[in-house]
Amino acid sequence: MNILLLGSGGREHALAWKLAQSRLCDKLFASPGNPGIADHAELTPLELTDHAAVLAFCEAQAIGLVVIGPEAPLVDGLSDALRGAGVPVFGPSKAAAQLEGSKAFTKELCARHNIPTAGFERVASEAEGMAALGKFGIPVVIKADGLAAGKGVTVAMTRAEAEGAVRDIFSGRFGEAGAEAVIEEFLEGEEASFFAITDGHTIVPFGSAQDHKRVGDGDTGPNTGGMGAYSPAPVLTPLLEGEAIERIVAPTVRAMAQEGMPYSGVLYAGLMLTKNGVQLIEYNARFGDPECQVLMLRLESDLGELMLAVAENRLAALEAPRLSPDTALTVVMAAKGYPETPEKGGAIAGLDGAEATGAKVFHAGTALKDGQLVANGGRVLNVTARGRNATEAQARAYAAVDAIDFADGFCRRDIGYREVAREAQG
Ligand code: AMP
Ligand code: GLY
Repeated sequence: MNILLLGSGGREHALAWKLAQSRLCDKLFASPGNPGIADHAELTPLELTDHAAVLAFCEAQAIGLVVIGPEAPLVDGLSDALRGAGVPVFGPSKAAAQLEGSKAFTKELCARHNIPTAGFERVASEAEGMAALGKFGIPVVIKADGLAAGKGVTVAMTRAEAEGAVRDIFSGRFGEAGAEAVIEEFLEGEEASFFAITDGHTIVPFGSAQDHKRVGDGDTGPNTGGMGAYSPAPVLTPLLEGEAIERIVAPTVRAMAQEGMPYSGVLYAGLMLTKNGVQLIEYNARFGDPECQVLMLRLESDLGELMLAVAENRLAALEAPRLSPDTALTVVMAAKGYPETPEKGGAIAGLDGAEATGAKVFHAGTALKDGQLVANGGRVLNVTARGRNATEAQARAYAAVDAIDFADGFCRRDIGYREVAREAQG
Protein backbone atom coordinates (compact mmCIF):
# COMPACT_ATOMS: atom_id res chain seq x y z
CA MET A 1 0.00 0.00 0.00
CA ASN A 2 1.11 3.58 -0.60
CA ILE A 3 0.90 5.93 2.38
CA LEU A 4 0.70 9.73 2.44
CA LEU A 5 1.93 11.49 5.60
CA LEU A 6 1.04 15.15 6.11
CA GLY A 7 3.15 17.57 8.14
CA SER A 8 6.72 18.79 8.42
CA GLY A 9 7.94 18.62 12.02
CA GLY A 10 9.80 16.27 14.33
CA ARG A 11 6.55 14.42 15.05
CA GLU A 12 6.16 13.67 11.36
CA HIS A 13 9.82 12.61 11.00
CA ALA A 14 9.26 10.09 13.80
CA LEU A 15 6.03 8.88 12.15
CA ALA A 16 7.77 8.64 8.75
CA TRP A 17 10.61 6.60 10.27
CA LYS A 18 8.13 4.09 11.74
CA LEU A 19 5.74 4.02 8.77
CA ALA A 20 8.61 3.31 6.40
CA GLN A 21 9.30 0.16 8.47
CA SER A 22 5.70 -1.05 8.21
CA ARG A 23 5.23 -4.34 6.36
CA LEU A 24 2.19 -2.73 4.71
CA CYS A 25 4.14 0.21 3.27
CA ASP A 26 5.14 -0.04 -0.38
CA LYS A 27 5.81 3.63 -0.95
CA LEU A 28 5.68 6.50 1.50
CA PHE A 29 4.92 10.04 0.35
CA ALA A 30 5.10 13.07 2.64
CA SER A 31 3.87 16.62 2.25
CA PRO A 32 5.43 19.04 2.80
CA GLY A 33 8.00 16.97 4.77
CA ASN A 34 11.53 18.04 5.69
CA PRO A 35 15.10 16.88 4.94
CA GLY A 36 14.92 14.18 7.65
CA ILE A 37 11.59 12.86 6.37
CA ALA A 38 13.12 12.79 2.87
CA ASP A 39 15.30 9.86 4.04
CA HIS A 40 12.13 7.74 4.28
CA ALA A 41 9.62 9.30 1.90
CA GLU A 42 9.18 11.01 -1.43
CA LEU A 43 8.30 14.63 -0.69
CA THR A 44 5.49 16.28 -2.57
CA PRO A 45 4.36 19.89 -2.18
CA LEU A 46 0.61 19.89 -1.56
CA GLU A 47 -1.51 22.77 -0.33
CA LEU A 48 -3.16 21.09 2.67
CA THR A 49 -6.02 23.59 2.73
CA ASP A 50 -6.86 22.59 -0.87
CA HIS A 51 -8.78 19.40 -0.08
CA ALA A 52 -9.50 18.66 -3.74
CA ALA A 53 -5.78 18.80 -4.56
CA VAL A 54 -4.91 16.39 -1.74
CA LEU A 55 -7.68 14.03 -2.88
CA ALA A 56 -6.49 14.21 -6.49
CA PHE A 57 -2.98 13.26 -5.37
CA CYS A 58 -4.36 10.29 -3.38
CA GLU A 59 -6.24 9.06 -6.42
CA ALA A 60 -3.29 9.53 -8.79
CA GLN A 61 -0.87 7.71 -6.46
CA ALA A 62 -3.28 5.00 -5.26
CA ILE A 63 -2.84 6.08 -1.65
CA GLY A 64 -4.23 3.43 0.73
CA LEU A 65 -3.78 5.45 3.95
CA VAL A 66 -3.41 9.15 4.74
CA VAL A 67 -1.84 10.04 8.09
CA ILE A 68 -2.51 13.60 9.27
CA GLY A 69 0.17 14.77 11.73
CA PRO A 70 -0.77 18.32 12.85
CA GLU A 71 -4.03 19.73 14.22
CA ALA A 72 -4.76 22.49 11.70
CA PRO A 73 -5.81 20.22 8.78
CA LEU A 74 -7.91 18.14 11.20
CA VAL A 75 -9.80 21.13 12.55
CA ASP A 76 -10.14 22.27 8.93
CA GLY A 77 -11.94 19.03 7.96
CA LEU A 78 -9.39 17.49 5.60
CA SER A 79 -10.13 14.00 6.90
CA ASP A 80 -13.85 14.38 6.08
CA ALA A 81 -13.05 15.31 2.48
CA LEU A 82 -10.79 12.27 2.07
CA ARG A 83 -12.99 9.81 3.94
CA GLY A 84 -16.01 11.01 1.98
CA ALA A 85 -14.18 9.92 -1.19
CA GLY A 86 -13.32 6.51 0.28
CA VAL A 87 -9.69 7.17 1.24
CA PRO A 88 -8.76 5.63 4.62
CA VAL A 89 -7.49 8.36 6.99
CA PHE A 90 -5.75 8.29 10.36
CA GLY A 91 -7.06 11.43 12.06
CA PRO A 92 -10.44 12.56 13.40
CA SER A 93 -13.24 14.31 11.52
CA LYS A 94 -13.75 18.05 11.76
CA ALA A 95 -16.56 17.52 14.27
CA ALA A 96 -14.47 15.18 16.44
CA ALA A 97 -11.39 17.43 16.24
CA GLN A 98 -13.37 20.02 18.17
CA LEU A 99 -11.97 18.22 21.21
CA GLU A 100 -8.79 20.14 20.41
CA GLY A 101 -10.20 22.97 18.31
CA SER A 102 -12.60 24.38 20.88
CA LYS A 103 -11.89 24.54 24.60
CA ALA A 104 -15.55 25.43 25.26
CA PHE A 105 -16.76 22.37 23.30
CA THR A 106 -14.58 20.10 25.42
CA LYS A 107 -15.53 21.71 28.72
CA GLU A 108 -19.25 21.43 27.89
CA LEU A 109 -18.82 17.79 26.87
CA CYS A 110 -17.06 17.09 30.18
CA ALA A 111 -19.86 18.83 32.07
CA ARG A 112 -22.58 16.83 30.25
CA HIS A 113 -20.83 13.52 30.91
CA ASN A 114 -19.37 14.07 34.37
CA ILE A 115 -15.76 13.92 33.20
CA PRO A 116 -13.42 15.36 35.84
CA THR A 117 -11.93 18.68 34.75
CA ALA A 118 -11.40 22.16 36.22
CA GLY A 119 -14.55 24.19 36.95
CA PHE A 120 -15.09 26.75 34.18
CA GLU A 121 -17.19 29.47 32.67
CA ARG A 122 -17.55 30.34 28.98
CA VAL A 123 -17.39 34.02 28.12
CA ALA A 124 -17.99 35.83 24.83
CA SER A 125 -16.91 39.39 25.60
CA GLU A 126 -14.46 41.35 27.70
CA ALA A 127 -17.24 42.44 30.05
CA GLU A 128 -18.43 38.86 30.57
CA GLY A 129 -14.83 37.81 31.15
CA MET A 130 -14.21 40.47 33.78
CA ALA A 131 -17.45 39.56 35.56
CA ALA A 132 -16.58 35.85 35.53
CA LEU A 133 -13.13 36.45 37.04
CA GLY A 134 -14.84 37.50 40.28
CA LYS A 135 -16.15 33.95 40.71
CA PHE A 136 -12.69 32.37 40.68
CA GLY A 137 -9.77 32.56 43.10
CA ILE A 138 -6.13 33.25 42.23
CA PRO A 139 -4.33 31.68 40.43
CA VAL A 140 -6.89 31.46 37.63
CA VAL A 141 -6.55 30.18 34.08
CA ILE A 142 -7.74 32.10 31.00
CA LYS A 143 -7.92 30.37 27.60
CA ALA A 144 -8.78 31.57 24.12
CA ASP A 145 -11.38 29.13 22.76
CA GLY A 146 -9.77 28.13 19.46
CA LEU A 147 -6.37 27.03 18.15
CA ALA A 148 -3.78 29.63 19.14
CA ALA A 149 -0.54 27.70 18.52
CA GLY A 150 -0.03 27.10 22.24
CA LYS A 151 -0.15 30.83 23.03
CA GLY A 152 -3.79 31.17 24.03
CA VAL A 153 -3.46 30.05 27.66
CA THR A 154 -2.54 32.25 30.64
CA VAL A 155 -2.11 30.91 34.15
CA ALA A 156 -2.59 34.22 35.97
CA MET A 157 -0.92 34.62 39.35
CA THR A 158 -2.54 38.02 40.08
CA ARG A 159 -5.90 39.65 39.42
CA ALA A 160 -4.20 42.27 37.20
CA GLU A 161 -2.59 39.58 35.06
CA ALA A 162 -5.94 37.79 34.73
CA GLU A 163 -7.67 40.99 33.62
CA GLY A 164 -4.85 41.65 31.14
CA ALA A 165 -5.29 38.16 29.67
CA VAL A 166 -9.05 38.65 29.21
CA ARG A 167 -8.47 42.04 27.52
CA ASP A 168 -5.78 40.49 25.33
CA ILE A 169 -8.10 37.75 24.05
CA PHE A 170 -10.95 40.12 23.21
CA SER A 171 -8.59 42.65 21.60
CA GLY A 172 -8.51 40.30 18.61
CA ARG A 173 -4.94 39.16 19.12
CA PHE A 174 -5.85 35.53 18.41
CA GLY A 175 -8.21 36.30 15.52
CA GLU A 176 -11.16 33.92 15.37
CA ALA A 177 -9.60 31.72 18.06
CA GLY A 178 -10.28 34.52 20.52
CA ALA A 179 -13.92 35.22 19.72
CA GLU A 180 -14.74 33.25 22.88
CA ALA A 181 -12.80 32.36 25.98
CA VAL A 182 -12.92 29.97 28.89
CA ILE A 183 -12.08 30.98 32.46
CA GLU A 184 -10.97 28.03 34.53
CA GLU A 185 -10.23 27.04 38.06
CA PHE A 186 -6.49 26.45 38.66
CA LEU A 187 -5.57 22.80 39.18
CA GLU A 188 -2.62 21.93 41.34
CA GLY A 189 -0.46 18.87 40.74
CA GLU A 190 2.01 17.26 38.37
CA GLU A 191 1.14 17.06 34.68
CA ALA A 192 1.33 13.93 32.55
CA SER A 193 0.19 13.08 29.04
CA PHE A 194 -1.69 9.92 28.16
CA PHE A 195 -2.23 8.65 24.63
CA ALA A 196 -4.84 6.24 23.30
CA ILE A 197 -5.73 5.20 19.79
CA THR A 198 -9.36 4.55 18.99
CA ASP A 199 -11.54 3.83 15.98
CA GLY A 200 -14.49 5.39 17.74
CA HIS A 201 -15.39 2.29 19.76
CA THR A 202 -12.36 0.24 20.73
CA ILE A 203 -9.84 2.17 22.85
CA VAL A 204 -6.24 1.02 23.13
CA PRO A 205 -3.64 2.66 25.41
CA PHE A 206 -0.62 4.01 23.54
CA GLY A 207 1.65 5.05 26.39
CA SER A 208 2.34 8.05 28.59
CA ALA A 209 4.84 10.91 28.47
CA GLN A 210 5.85 14.06 30.24
CA ASP A 211 6.59 17.24 28.30
CA HIS A 212 8.66 20.31 29.31
CA LYS A 213 6.80 23.36 28.00
CA ARG A 214 8.88 26.25 29.39
CA VAL A 215 11.90 27.38 27.41
CA GLY A 216 14.39 27.43 30.31
CA ASP A 217 15.94 24.95 32.74
CA GLY A 218 13.89 24.37 35.87
CA ASP A 219 10.68 25.26 33.97
CA THR A 220 11.40 28.98 33.67
CA GLY A 221 10.70 31.51 30.93
CA PRO A 222 7.93 31.58 28.33
CA ASN A 223 5.88 28.61 27.16
CA THR A 224 6.93 26.81 23.98
CA GLY A 225 5.57 23.96 21.89
CA GLY A 226 7.68 21.66 24.08
CA MET A 227 11.44 21.59 24.77
CA GLY A 228 11.74 17.86 25.43
CA ALA A 229 9.85 14.85 26.68
CA TYR A 230 10.26 11.35 28.00
CA SER A 231 8.14 8.22 27.96
CA PRO A 232 6.85 6.42 29.92
CA ALA A 233 5.95 8.88 32.68
CA PRO A 234 5.90 6.59 35.74
CA VAL A 235 4.20 9.35 37.75
CA LEU A 236 1.10 8.17 35.86
CA THR A 237 1.06 4.85 37.74
CA PRO A 238 -0.95 1.90 36.39
CA LEU A 239 -3.63 2.79 38.95
CA LEU A 240 -3.83 6.42 37.81
CA GLU A 241 -3.72 5.38 34.16
CA GLY A 242 -6.66 3.07 34.81
CA GLU A 243 -8.51 5.97 36.43
CA ALA A 244 -7.73 8.22 33.45
CA ILE A 245 -9.11 5.64 31.02
CA GLU A 246 -12.19 4.80 33.06
CA ARG A 247 -13.20 8.30 34.13
CA ILE A 248 -11.89 10.48 31.28
CA VAL A 249 -10.89 8.82 28.00
CA ALA A 250 -13.53 6.05 27.75
CA PRO A 251 -16.47 8.31 28.68
CA THR A 252 -15.23 10.86 26.12
CA VAL A 253 -15.01 8.33 23.30
CA ARG A 254 -18.46 6.95 24.25
CA ALA A 255 -19.93 10.44 24.40
CA MET A 256 -18.54 11.42 21.02
CA ALA A 257 -20.03 8.29 19.43
CA GLN A 258 -23.39 8.82 21.18
CA GLU A 259 -23.51 12.41 20.05
CA GLY A 260 -22.95 11.44 16.42
CA MET A 261 -19.31 12.45 15.98
CA PRO A 262 -17.28 9.29 16.64
CA TYR A 263 -13.63 10.06 17.39
CA SER A 264 -11.12 8.14 15.28
CA GLY A 265 -7.36 8.58 15.55
CA VAL A 266 -5.06 9.24 18.48
CA LEU A 267 -6.50 11.01 21.48
CA TYR A 268 -3.92 12.87 23.57
CA ALA A 269 -5.15 13.65 27.07
CA GLY A 270 -3.24 16.32 29.00
CA LEU A 271 -3.82 15.33 32.63
CA MET A 272 -3.28 16.95 36.01
CA LEU A 273 -2.60 14.49 38.81
CA THR A 274 -4.26 16.31 41.70
CA LYS A 275 -4.85 15.39 45.34
CA ASN A 276 -8.45 14.74 44.33
CA GLY A 277 -7.63 12.38 41.49
CA VAL A 278 -6.83 12.68 37.81
CA GLN A 279 -8.34 15.71 36.05
CA LEU A 280 -8.43 16.52 32.34
CA ILE A 281 -6.56 19.73 31.41
CA GLU A 282 -7.09 19.49 27.67
CA TYR A 283 -7.38 17.16 24.72
CA ASN A 284 -5.34 17.18 21.55
CA ALA A 285 -6.57 15.42 18.42
CA ARG A 286 -3.11 14.25 17.31
CA PHE A 287 0.17 12.97 18.66
CA GLY A 288 2.13 15.46 20.76
CA ASP A 289 5.28 17.04 19.41
CA PRO A 290 7.83 16.05 20.82
CA GLU A 291 5.91 13.33 22.73
CA CYS A 292 5.41 11.37 19.49
CA GLN A 293 9.18 11.08 19.04
CA VAL A 294 9.64 9.22 22.34
CA LEU A 295 6.57 7.03 21.78
CA MET A 296 7.85 6.00 18.33
CA LEU A 297 11.26 5.12 19.75
CA ARG A 298 9.52 2.70 22.16
CA LEU A 299 6.94 1.30 19.73
CA GLU A 300 7.65 -2.30 18.76
CA SER A 301 4.43 -2.92 16.79
CA ASP A 302 3.79 -2.14 13.14
CA LEU A 303 2.57 1.48 13.07
CA GLY A 304 1.07 1.15 9.58
CA GLU A 305 -1.06 -1.82 10.67
CA LEU A 306 -2.31 0.02 13.74
CA MET A 307 -3.16 3.19 11.85
CA LEU A 308 -4.92 1.35 9.03
CA ALA A 309 -6.97 -0.63 11.59
CA VAL A 310 -8.04 2.65 13.20
CA ALA A 311 -8.90 4.13 9.81
CA GLU A 312 -10.90 1.02 8.82
CA ASN A 313 -12.76 0.63 12.12
CA ARG A 314 -11.33 -2.74 13.07
CA LEU A 315 -9.02 -1.97 15.96
CA ALA A 316 -10.69 -4.64 18.15
CA ALA A 317 -9.34 -7.40 15.89
CA LEU A 318 -5.72 -6.28 16.31
CA GLU A 319 -3.13 -7.14 18.93
CA ALA A 320 -2.62 -4.14 21.26
CA PRO A 321 0.46 -2.00 20.52
CA ARG A 322 3.63 -3.18 22.20
CA LEU A 323 5.86 -0.49 23.71
CA SER A 324 9.34 -1.27 25.03
CA PRO A 325 9.62 -1.02 28.83
CA ASP A 326 12.70 1.16 28.22
CA THR A 327 12.53 4.91 28.73
CA ALA A 328 12.93 7.11 25.67
CA LEU A 329 13.90 10.75 26.13
CA THR A 330 14.12 13.53 23.60
CA VAL A 331 15.91 16.87 23.84
CA VAL A 332 14.75 19.66 21.56
CA MET A 333 17.55 21.72 20.01
CA ALA A 334 15.99 25.08 19.17
CA ALA A 335 17.25 28.09 17.25
CA LYS A 336 18.49 30.97 19.44
CA GLY A 337 15.67 33.42 20.04
CA TYR A 338 12.97 30.70 20.23
CA PRO A 339 10.09 31.02 21.05
CA GLU A 340 9.85 34.76 20.24
CA THR A 341 12.21 35.33 17.30
CA PRO A 342 14.12 32.20 16.29
CA GLU A 343 17.13 32.82 14.07
CA LYS A 344 16.87 31.04 10.74
CA GLY A 345 19.77 29.73 8.71
CA GLY A 346 22.20 28.52 11.40
CA ALA A 347 24.47 25.73 10.10
CA ILE A 348 24.08 22.22 11.57
CA ALA A 349 26.69 19.43 11.48
CA GLY A 350 27.58 16.28 13.36
CA LEU A 351 24.29 14.36 13.05
CA ASP A 352 26.09 11.17 11.96
CA GLY A 353 28.33 11.39 15.02
CA ALA A 354 25.29 11.89 17.22
CA GLU A 355 23.55 8.84 15.76
CA ALA A 356 26.77 6.80 16.09
CA THR A 357 26.18 7.01 19.86
CA GLY A 358 22.97 5.00 19.33
CA ALA A 359 20.64 7.99 19.48
CA LYS A 360 18.08 8.93 16.83
CA VAL A 361 17.97 12.51 15.59
CA PHE A 362 14.63 13.66 14.22
CA HIS A 363 14.46 16.79 12.09
CA ALA A 364 11.89 19.31 13.36
CA GLY A 365 12.74 22.51 11.53
CA THR A 366 15.60 22.05 9.08
CA ALA A 367 16.25 22.85 5.44
CA LEU A 368 18.99 22.07 2.94
CA LYS A 369 20.65 25.16 1.52
CA ASP A 370 23.30 24.56 -1.15
CA GLY A 371 23.90 21.12 0.32
CA GLN A 372 24.30 22.46 3.87
CA LEU A 373 21.78 21.50 6.58
CA VAL A 374 20.50 24.67 8.28
CA ALA A 375 17.92 25.70 10.88
CA ASN A 376 14.56 26.55 9.39
CA GLY A 377 12.22 26.93 12.35
CA GLY A 378 12.03 27.46 16.12
CA ARG A 379 12.43 23.87 17.12
CA VAL A 380 15.14 22.43 14.89
CA LEU A 381 16.21 18.93 16.02
CA ASN A 382 14.89 16.30 18.43
CA VAL A 383 17.77 14.28 19.82
CA THR A 384 16.21 11.08 21.10
CA ALA A 385 17.70 8.14 23.00
CA ARG A 386 16.60 5.04 24.89
CA GLY A 387 17.84 3.62 28.18
CA ARG A 388 16.77 1.28 30.98
CA ASN A 389 15.43 4.30 32.88
CA ALA A 390 15.20 8.08 32.58
CA THR A 391 18.68 8.60 34.05
CA GLU A 392 20.29 6.42 31.40
CA ALA A 393 18.16 7.75 28.53
CA GLN A 394 18.94 11.33 29.61
CA ALA A 395 22.72 10.69 29.72
CA ARG A 396 22.58 9.10 26.26
CA ALA A 397 20.47 11.87 24.75
CA TYR A 398 22.82 14.58 26.04
CA ALA A 399 25.90 12.64 24.85
CA ALA A 400 24.34 12.77 21.37
CA VAL A 401 23.44 16.47 21.77
CA ASP A 402 27.07 17.17 22.60
CA ALA A 403 28.17 15.52 19.34
CA ILE A 404 26.10 18.01 17.32
CA ASP A 405 27.58 21.23 16.02
CA PHE A 406 24.83 23.88 15.95
CA ALA A 407 26.37 27.16 17.10
CA ASP A 408 23.14 29.12 16.67
CA GLY A 409 21.10 26.65 18.68
CA PHE A 410 20.40 25.89 22.32
CA CYS A 411 18.62 23.30 24.43
CA ARG A 412 17.47 22.71 27.98
CA ARG A 413 19.96 20.63 29.97
CA ASP A 414 17.43 19.14 32.39
CA ILE A 415 14.89 17.22 30.32
CA GLY A 416 13.44 14.44 32.46
CA TYR A 417 14.60 16.03 35.71
CA ARG A 418 11.54 15.09 37.78
CA GLU A 419 11.89 11.41 36.97
CA VAL A 420 15.69 11.44 37.24
CA ALA A 421 15.33 12.89 40.76
CA ARG A 422 12.80 10.19 41.69
CA GLU A 423 15.17 7.51 40.36
CA ALA A 424 18.04 8.96 42.43
CA GLN A 425 15.88 8.60 45.54
CA GLY A 426 15.27 4.97 44.61
P1 AMP B 1 -3.36 23.86 27.45
O1 AMP B 1 -3.04 24.58 26.17
O2 AMP B 1 -4.81 23.79 27.78
O3 AMP B 1 -2.61 22.56 27.58
O4 AMP B 1 -2.66 24.73 28.59
C1 AMP B 1 -1.28 24.94 28.58
C2 AMP B 1 -0.71 24.71 29.94
O5 AMP B 1 -1.35 25.57 30.89
C3 AMP B 1 -0.95 23.31 30.49
O6 AMP B 1 0.01 22.40 30.05
C4 AMP B 1 -0.87 23.53 31.97
O7 AMP B 1 0.47 23.62 32.39
C5 AMP B 1 -1.49 24.91 32.12
N1 AMP B 1 -2.92 24.80 32.47
C6 AMP B 1 -3.96 24.78 31.63
N2 AMP B 1 -5.12 24.67 32.29
C7 AMP B 1 -4.81 24.63 33.61
C8 AMP B 1 -5.58 24.55 34.82
N3 AMP B 1 -6.91 24.51 34.81
N4 AMP B 1 -4.90 24.53 35.99
C9 AMP B 1 -3.55 24.61 36.02
N5 AMP B 1 -2.79 24.71 34.92
C10 AMP B 1 -3.40 24.72 33.73
N1 GLY C 1 4.06 19.10 23.22
C1 GLY C 1 2.75 19.56 23.37
C2 GLY C 1 1.86 19.39 22.23
O1 GLY C 1 2.18 18.74 21.26
O2 GLY C 1 0.74 19.88 22.28
